[in-house]
Amino acid sequence: MTSASSAPSVPATAELAATRAAELREQLHHHAHLYYVLDAPALPDAEYDKLFQALQAIEAAYPALLTPDSPTQRVGGQVLDGFVPVRHTVPMLSIRTETDTEATGAEAFDARVRRELDLAPTAAPIEYAAELKFDGLAINLRYEHGVLTQAATRGNGETGEDVTQNVRTIGQIPLRLHGEAAAGIAVLEVRGEVYMRRDDFEALNERQREANEKTFVNPRNTAAGAIRQLDPELVRQRPLSFFAYGLGDVQGWEIPATHSAMLDALQGFGLPVCADRAVALGAEGLVKFHREIGEKRDALPFDIDGVVYKVNSRELQRRLGFVSREPRWAVAHKYPAQEQVTRLDRIDIQVGRTGKLTPVAKLEPVFVGGTTVSNATLHNVFELRRKGVRVGDQVIVRRAGDVIPEIVGRIARVAKADEAAADLAGAESVAEPSRNPYVPNFHMPKACPICGSEVVREKGGIDHRCSGGIFCPAQRKQALLHFAGRRAMDIEGLGDKIVDQLVDGGIVTNLPGLYKLGVAKLAELERMGEKSAQNLFDALQKSKSTTMARFLFALGIRHVGETTAKDLAKHFGNMDALMAATEEQLLEVKDVGPVVARSVHAFFKEEHNKTVVELLLAQDMISFPQSEGAAAAPTGPQPLAGKTLVLTGTLPTLSRDEAKALIEAAGGKVSGSVSKKTSFVVAGEEAGSKLDKARELGVAIVDEAGLQALLAALE
Ligand code: IVH
Repeated sequence: MTSASSAPSVPATAELAATRAAELREQLHHHAHLYYVLDAPALPDAEYDKLFQALQAIEAAYPALLTPDSPTQRVGGQVLDGFVPVRHTVPMLSIRTETDTEATGAEAFDARVRRELDLAPTAAPIEYAAELKFDGLAINLRYEHGVLTQAATRGNGETGEDVTQNVRTIGQIPLRLHGEAAAGIAVLEVRGEVYMRRDDFEALNERQREANEKTFVNPRNTAAGAIRQLDPELVRQRPLSFFAYGLGDVQGWEIPATHSAMLDALQGFGLPVCADRAVALGAEGLVKFHREIGEKRDALPFDIDGVVYKVNSRELQRRLGFVSREPRWAVAHKYPAQEQVTRLDRIDIQVGRTGKLTPVAKLEPVFVGGTTVSNATLHNVFELRRKGVRVGDQVIVRRAGDVIPEIVGRIARVAKADEAAADLAGAESVAEPSRNPYVPNFHMPKACPICGSEVVREKGGIDHRCSGGIFCPAQRKQALLHFAGRRAMDIEGLGDKIVDQLVDGGIVTNLPGLYKLGVAKLAELERMGEKSAQNLFDALQKSKSTTMARFLFALGIRHVGETTAKDLAKHFGNMDALMAATEEQLLEVKDVGPVVARSVHAFFKEEHNKTVVELLLAQDMISFPQSEGAAAAPTGPQPLAGKTLVLTGTLPTLSRDEAKALIEAAGGKVSGSVSKKTSFVVAGEEAGSKLDKARELGVAIVDEAGLQALLAALE
């Protein structure tokens, strides 16, 4: 296999290069379609990149071969000074909107169409193409002989702006249409919506948050803003999608007789057409479509604000014609809005399962996204400050899909006289006389509102957390599940359904409470038979005899994973010594740094955590018969003493945990990453980058048999 970094070779003659470039473009177009449009990639990214680089190399060596439809033209455009106006050959119209209930909206439209067409009440129902009303921005794509030559925004419908360079960055939009037939069409203008998927939007905002940059309000505004970016590199960082829904100027193509057949044809040309569309008969069919889409609206991967009904027959469309700027043959039928404005009454704090404190907005109830919303998340205190919202403000609430309602911003209240200035300067920078100047800035509490434990924030971190751990009811469920985990106390049968019942029913309020549960009490729980109650009871009893390391890990102290727990247990030998340790003493433990030391110290500084541990140990609930005491001498032979091993891939017989246990029993250490200090890499099937790294650094590589040999070496 050739290395990805070696320069791709370039054919020796222009003729060969031309053939090869055409081949590469064909392959790249094909795979881009599979990847972006059909969501079914057939080639690993690295292979795609290789083809791409080969084409780039040819085009660099033979600039004459560069074509506007080359996949290489999706990247690296120039930063523009401004957009050039584009006059639309065929105006881009808008559609009339109905916001009525599902029945009246559809019936009113159907009745209107029948009236305009002079149809008798007994005439057959009209056939409609029903589709989604995407919430993005309209774009006109101009293809000449199958090649994308221009993309323009709608603008005022007559004149838009040339955004070709930006539109080229959208992977879903073919730079060249598929098939011989498309290549024969002199001009084909395709109209559709550029939008941003919800998951892409969320991921983008997550990246913005991480970089401490401003977050975007909603997918629609973000998509619209991205298309009007002057720097195409910035557009590329805002993943956009596209759906075709209509035509503009067409020359040299016999347009199919119905709208639905036309969309099928566009799909055949490689353009993305939304699968959620239907041919509906009469008002009844439209009502059904409106209802079905309404039910699945939240589950769609993108925002819609309604559905669109279009008379399917082009001939009937022609007969119906237009009123002002709207066709009589189409209507948009909206759903309730997913954004509303309401008053922010109060900011409460919610404590999540991991102790994270989230500011939650208490709102004047408002109907948004199909439900009444009175709570919305503000994410974290920094986000809240960035958005500049304060109690008493009018705020924009958004609820899209099953996403938790959130506050996306506030409406700045500007005095009439300041309006002109606000327009010029941006409303944010203008004084707001109606805003109460005495509302104090919001601060996170110093103590957890649920349990009163200290609230801590990691240095440089965003989140505030309650340090109460298992003492805090909000964290108790998660803590119990972790405590019961296989690598912790290994309590089989204590899953989330049971933990929910135990905590919600107030049956278990702390860890000692878990061990006080009798078979009878357990059998009272929902979906718990006599036998499973006995099994869970037995599992609880069995777990009482464990090791200090497991117990320590089970407590769920932040930053104390299995390895650290083992190191701590080895160093201190018993819980009393550990609980009494100062931060300095904790720092003496092998591999314990300031973050871990601080966390362990903070945990045991909380009186209630100490009490829980003491209760568990004092009543002999938990014991450490196999404890790794400080003085405990290694038992067996130590052939791997001082050696560091890295495990990668799947071994034929040993699980990762088993291999780790064997290595540690032989005095070795298991590390997660390969470095020059690694003694051996143990590689199984489907070993990944760690194996590559080992080869690169010349670290010895063994398989499972090799590991067994190492373990046996000194016997
Ligand atoms: S058809 C002549 N179909 O809604 C009909 N428009 O006012 C022209 N839109 O901004 C539009 N989804 O971008 C049509 N399936 C769809 C649509 C759709 C969204 C947008 C369009 C325009 C507005 C129409």
